[in-house]
Amino acid sequence: MPSLAIRSEQEAELLRAARQAAEHAYAPYSGFRVGAALLLETGEIVTAANVENTSYSLTICAERSAVVRAVAQHGPQIRILAAAITNLHGESSSPCGACRQVLAEFMAPGGLVLFPFNGAPQSQTLTDLLPYGFYLKHAQ
Ligand code: THU
Repeated sequence: MPSLAIRSEQEAELLRAARQAAEHAYAPYSGFRVGAALLLETGEIVTAANVENTSYSLTICAERSAVVRAVAQHGPQIRILAAAITNLHGESSSPCGACRQVLAEFMAPGGLVLFPFNGAPQSQTLTDLLPYGFYLKHAQ
């Protein structure tokens, strides 16, 4: 699957935005602060952080927070060209399975996902992260 390329300045800006967003994480239980930044096809960037809850399973990841925020701010027609994820701990931080499926709702299979992994920045297409994702043909 060919990736939808973005410019290197856009990539750098997206990573910076994700890092800044992580500063706003609410993570008193895990202590793991994550930031996500989405590049929309309009050129706009939408960021968010993880928000935890005392009822642990109600925690929302940074990536899903960002998708929800993007739809709320820009409308249901949004398309995501690329997503950057980072954390403030120098750890590997690929999007969890649930977040991959939620990104797929608004992102083409060739969209780029950037994240730190084993000490190195990674850039993978969504379809490489989510092969055989679930899609309904009749969705409109
Ligand atoms: N987390 C994210 O924000 N994104 C992911 O894709 C994986 C995990 C958050 C959830 C929780 O607040 C903390 O990281 C530790 O799991």
